Amino acid sequence: MLNRIFGYFSHDIGIDLGTANTLVYVKGKGILIREPSVVTIHKKTKEVLAVGNEAKKMLGKTPNNIIAVRPLRDGVISDFYVTEKMLSYFIGLVHEMPSRFPKIPRPRIVIGVPSGVTSVERKAVVDAARNAGARETFLLEEPMAAAIGAGLEISEPKGNMIVDLGGGTTEIAVISLGGVVISKSLRIAGDELDMEIVNYAKTKYNLLLGERTAEEIKINVGNVADVEKETENRAVFRGRDLRTGLPKAVEVSAYELREILRPPVYSVIETVKDALEETPAELISDIIKNGIVLAGGTSQLKGLDRLMMHELNVPVRVVDDPMTAVVKGCGKVLDDLDLLMKVKISL
Ligand SMILES: Nc1ncnc2c1ncn2[C@@H]1O[C@H](COP(=O)(O)OP(=O)(O)OP(=O)(O)O)[C@@H](O)[C@H]1O
Ligand SMILES: [Mg+2]
Repeated sequence: MLNRIFGYFSHDIGIDLGTANTLVYVKGKGILIREPSVVTIHKKTKEVLAVGNEAKKMLGKTPNNIIAVRPLRDGVISDFYVTEKMLSYFIGLVHEMPSRFPKIPRPRIVIGVPSGVTSVERKAVVDAARNAGARETFLLEEPMAAAIGAGLEISEPKGNMIVDLGGGTTEIAVISLGGVVISKSLRIAGDELDMEIVNYAKTKYNLLLGERTAEEIKINVGNVADVEKETENRAVFRGRDLRTGLPKAVEVSAYELREILRPPVYSVIETVKDALEETPAELISDIIKNGIVLAGGTSQLKGLDRLMMHELNVPVRVVDDPMTAVVKGCGKVLDDLDLLMKVKISL
């Protein structure tokens, strides 16, 4: 009864609690929040000063008494306190948005979590959601959520392969009959690519580059494509000279960036190969026919789909709007409780 009353007054929501970005889907309204998973807090009082976009702008630029925190690292909660603050901020935000009825923030929540998380980490997510006001919390494995969000026919007796390349983790899964048949997770994704650029700048040019600068370069000029002709595109690395301590800028070619980014990308491709090797033959034939589906922000790295296709000899396609696949999947199961019961992680 109480459940029904709360259900009437609160929005059911789906959350992709990502290492890089948090997205919130509200039933009947769509994706209302899409912000970086960053929180700035006061060092001494632990008071939250900013969340999301506003906080990300401060990353690496905060004065001594303020710290900008990314509470999730490698796809898991590394700072429980801050994760909870961030979740309650976003849940509160959703309920402040104008609506026909006054809303009490006690939503039913579906959250996507990486498939590799331990039961302790799962419990941490559920506790954070409960403390943030959730009346009921369900967890979905991220690749399952991404597959549902991508519109794959996951309930059919048919092999679907999804690779979700995010910020902290890459998740690989083969799904059939509503269940995960093969799953692999590796902690190499977008953050790792940024770190490779930072490390390269340090060793090759004695240049200290900020993580955000590295990310921008990766998104704008980064590529792993196998092109014959050297592209005109060049990147400027702006940072600090480690010997002199003074500002310094170095021009780097797209070719050089390709060489930096390829080794971690090849680690991902090797793991996809392992997953394919372990996949039952009947499901492989479906994957060859329908191709591998890529989701997550890092799936947009230039040339990635082509390189994978070339190395794996299987069609590869990136879903539309790949950064929203997981949250869309969480949203879809809110509308289909039978499906939710089938695919949720049992706690
Ligand atoms: N056009 C682009 N090219 C390459 N990388 C990109 C592009 N756009 C975003 N990214 C990268 O995608 C990553 C974020 O993706 P996404 O939002 O899917 O991650 P997440 O879901 O927060 O992380 P995780 O799933 O690992 O918890 C970041 O590392 C970002 O730099
Ligand atoms: Mg993700």
